[in-house]
Amino acid sequence: MYLGVSSGFISKLIIILMMFISPFILLAFEGQKQIPIKNKPGLSLEETFNLYVRSIQKSDLEGLFSTVTEDEEFFFLTAGGKLIDTREQYYKFHEEWFKGENWDMPVDLIDVYEAKDYGYTLAIFHYRDKSPSAGMRILDSYFTLIFHKENNMWKVIGDICTPVNRYTTEENLEIKYDEKQEYLFDIIRNRRTVRRFKSTPIPKEHIIKILNAARFAPTSGNQQPWKFLVISDREKLNKLKEKAFLWYIEKYKEKVNPTKEDIEIVSDAVKNSLEGALSAPVYIAVLVDSKEKYPEYVIYDGTLAAGYLMIAARALGYGTGFFTSFFPEDKMKEFFNIPKQYNLICFTPIAVPLKWPEVPPKKELKDLIIFESF
Ligand SMILES: Cc1cc2nc3c(=O)[nH]c(=O)nc-3n(C[C@H](O)[C@H](O)[C@H](O)COP(=O)(O)O)c2cc1C
Repeated sequence: MYLGVSSGFISKLIIILMMFISPFILLAFEGQKQIPIKNKPGLSLEETFNLYVRSIQKSDLEGLFSTVTEDEEFFFLTAGGKLIDTREQYYKFHEEWFKGENWDMPVDLIDVYEAKDYGYTLAIFHYRDKSPSAGMRILDSYFTLIFHKENNMWKVIGDICTPVNRYTTEENLEIKYDEKQEYLFDIIRNRRTVRRFKSTPIPKEHIIKILNAARFAPTSGNQQPWKFLVISDREKLNKLKEKAFLWYIEKYKEKVNPTKEDIEIVSDAVKNSLEGALSAPVYIAVLVDSKEKYPEYVIYDGTLAAGYLMIAARALGYGTGFFTSFFPEDKMKEFFNIPKQYNLICFTPIAVPLKWPEVPPKKELKDLIIFESF
């Protein structure tokens, strides 16, 4: 007894209250119904859709493919407009995608249609890929999933992706680079073609270190077809200066049939350029062996090694240059007594610049990148 209310009255009150609130308790439970780990008979189309989405978000291939038809035929139109038309390819697509990390994809369900044995969902999938080198890639797409019933389970038989929004954020404050990473990117950005040098001697140790980096460039079939001809003989380089001048003027005369005055102007310019280009204490002729296993690729192999060399040289404070035009292959091979089977990729100085050049105009990144397709 309390406040004059009998215990019989209290139990009646509880029963009446329960009758009122129980439908709401049931509704609350309904809303929180757990999504199963795998598809099972009796799930509604929307529940199957939720399982499909949750499996993608958790990179759970097994869960995902329990919602996908067992039939071999499938229809998937990717964000890039590519058609994938078998279940196996759809599987491989997701397998590949799920290997990636650092992405997420919230989903907004817009519409569900569930008929007796077919139906569809329309949703927006907000894909976000935090790629460390390119900011955050964002892709928002409409996804229409088409379902049919197989063994009393809803299964996806078609998937049409329509991109609505695709871009990369300029800057993503969540992504941080440590000093070593920043250093590497700075070196790459600050590599410059240098055309005039100080005569400061370069330690042999540095040349070896640079070439040791160059040899880690990729090559076709790992054939590593290089020879790095190192030239530091000043007398020989002065001779090359004279020769290169003659080679150039000879070709110039052949090509444009110039007046005496033209020749004088060009001669002065070429002498001046060669004076700068050949002012370094050390040069490397990057050569590739055309008798290697994949001769059609040696040019790429050589060019990549030259690129690595230039970046490595920059890390030690040196300027370089992918010099070609003053140094024609046939003449250079003769001059340096290079065996016939080698191709000259470039002739590059390694030296302390007289002055680091300004960055020449570079195209904007956004004008160079195409994500997925044109
Ligand atoms: C295939 C190729 C050939 C080149 N030929 C020459 C050349 O003959 N003489 C020269 O001074 N620079 C040459 N260069 C260097 C470019 O002029 C230079 O890379 C470009 O102007 C951009 O400047 P940067 O290297 O400082 O970024 C060549 C570069 C490449 C990739």
